[in-house]
Amino acid sequence: MSHPSGRRTRSAGRTAMAALGAGLLCATVLAAPSSAAGGRPATSPPSNPAPAGDDSHLALTPPMGFNNWNSTHCRAEFNEEMVRGMADLFVERGLKDAGYEYINLDDCWALPERDAEGKLVPDPERFPHGIKAVADYVHARGLKFGIYTSAGTKTCSDIGFPGALGHEYSDARQFADWGVDYLKYDNCNNQGLDAKQRYLTMRDALRATGRPILYSICEWGENRPWEWARGVGQSWRTTGDIKDNWESMLSIMKKNLPLDEYAGPGGWNDPDMLEVGNGGMTDTEYRTHFSMWSIMAAPLLIGADLRSAPQSAFDILSNEEVIAVDQDELGRQGKVIASENGRWVIAKELADGSRAVALFNESDQPQRVSTTARAAGLPHSAGYRVRDLWKHADTHTAGKISATVPAHGTVLVRVSPDRDWAQLPPAVDSGVDGGAIAESGDGVRLTAATENLGRQPVRSVSTGMTGPEGWRVRAESRPGTAVLRGGATFRSTWRIDVPRSAEPGSHELKLTTTYRLPSGRQVRSDSQVLVRVAVAPAGGTTHLSDLAPLSTANGFGPVEIDRSNGESAAGDGKPLTIGGRTWSKGLGVHAVSRVEYFTAGRCERVTASVGVDDETGERGTVAFEIQADGERRAGTGTLTNSQDAQEISADVTGAETVTLTVTDGGDGSEYDHADWADLKVTC
Ligand code: GLA
Repeated sequence: MSHPSGRRTRSAGRTAMAALGAGLLCATVLAAPSSAAGGRPATSPPSNPAPAGDDSHLALTPPMGFNNWNSTHCRAEFNEEMVRGMADLFVERGLKDAGYEYINLDDCWALPERDAEGKLVPDPERFPHGIKAVADYVHARGLKFGIYTSAGTKTCSDIGFPGALGHEYSDARQFADWGVDYLKYDNCNNQGLDAKQRYLTMRDALRATGRPILYSICEWGENRPWEWARGVGQSWRTTGDIKDNWESMLSIMKKNLPLDEYAGPGGWNDPDMLEVGNGGMTDTEYRTHFSMWSIMAAPLLIGADLRSAPQSAFDILSNEEVIAVDQDELGRQGKVIASENGRWVIAKELADGSRAVALFNESDQPQRVSTTARAAGLPHSAGYRVRDLWKHADTHTAGKISATVPAHGTVLVRVSPDRDWAQLPPAVDSGVDGGAIAESGDGVRLTAATENLGRQPVRSVSTGMTGPEGWRVRAESRPGTAVLRGGATFRSTWRIDVPRSAEPGSHELKLTTTYRLPSGRQVRSDSQVLVRVAVAPAGGTTHLSDLAPLSTANGFGPVEIDRSNGESAAGDGKPLTIGGRTWSKGLGVHAVSRVEYFTAGRCERVTASVGVDDETGERGTVAFEIQADGERRAGTGTLTNSQDAQEISADVTGAETVTLTVTDGGDGSEYDHADWADLKVTC
């Protein structure tokens, strides 16, 4: 069984309360303080500490910069050339001007052993000129420099680099001498010692250097740092590590969103670094990632190697109107004001009294997401200015804020009461809410709604729909109207004939809407429409693993057909095995996972034998659930690796879709290899 880059080891380190720990605690407490010149490492302050570094002015807005981890992990391309290249790009490509400031090294910059004096030694292959030279290079470009270590005996990498536990004062001194401006302090190999104490010791050690060093606490939210870390560090990770995929980003976002009350100037919730530009998500998803991190007032640490990133990554990362939401000096984290069926509304109060509002669509279909200026916290006004921060355009509304948002997309706007609303064109939203599911050769009907959210009428409204080649799209009703008054909605209905040759999967159509503003100017907008082509199971009993699912989402790697989950490539697992018993048919997934099938209202029952696959040893806790049209019909509660397979059976009579979900049992998703063995549907 393959395990990417030592997740297993780190996880063990997180919980280990080794016997060694007790001995080490004594040893570190008794260690002598270091002298100003270095000398023996120590955990307690030197007898004549330097004047305390003033950290009260640090991170008044969330930190912005770069960290190599998400793009390189410990691979060889993490070296001084990369760091210098990033510093150059920050200046040349306008990122510095956009506010990005720190260039940070993550794990693996040091040699595994300290020198005879107990000092950290930079890896001479990666950093042949040492760390100070890199810091100087970064500083010479008007940027700041950051470094990484762990509040443990070793850092998180399997290779075993030295951690700062018991060496806090001498390591902090060494960092300050190199010109470090930012420290990310991780949590691996912590010997079970009290987290708050470990993080406080390093805070004091940093202060004792006299150099202002932004202190980023990285204990993955394990000890509820939002409750104690303000005044210790300037940011605290709230979750485990982000991965460059939609499910990971989404689950991290959902953990960080409820913590809004803890964020503010000088102390920020940190949902981990950005993946924008690393290639594992679509641009729509990356815009959601960046919009949501900004409305959550999260640190914006670019995690892509911009020397090879596509232009789209620069376009997203340097959107100054979105960055301004993140960097707003009031320092509020956006609050969830509505969340239902994958439609999310988040509102963030801004220093000028306006509100940033994110309309986020978590689902796999375009959906209309709506709120009002009042619900977002704004005072009453005859009209409001709505600034679209991705389209860079202003419109007005009478109070409703609404958009048909593409699958996985986010519309991010800035809304303010505006006496001059009449100078702005009315906001018009046009789209198909929800899309459709069809079988190949079928006909489906879709209704598009065009709503005028403003106060003035728009004229000569016309809608048109186009499909992929070979698809027939006809208007079943009038596709346009001469006048659409403020507050009114116009509906047009379309008949779509899905060709027999259409492959199962999502097919994109386009709704185009044009209208004339009061000024006479014509506006044209396009909206995503999705038809998901699916194959319904035949009559009788069928193995679901023989059918193409409507949609899948999986913790690591793809959902495996008739194999266990190998975590990366398709087919890299083993036979499905639970409690020593093996099955030839079924699905191998990894929490958090979601697999959706089309049942066309023609099926009755779904059954399976479920459990944690034996390949994860003694670990792994998961919970299985079967939903019919989004409603729970059967579930297992939390299952562990020591349990044999459990039978699960759900009545799905009449459902259009059946969804199989696996959650992580509440303890994170590591080792959560889950099997839907002998998974069958009866129709
Ligand atoms: C932990 C941290 C990551 C990264 C790695 C480095 O997993 O949470 O952000 O720093 O260690 O090994």
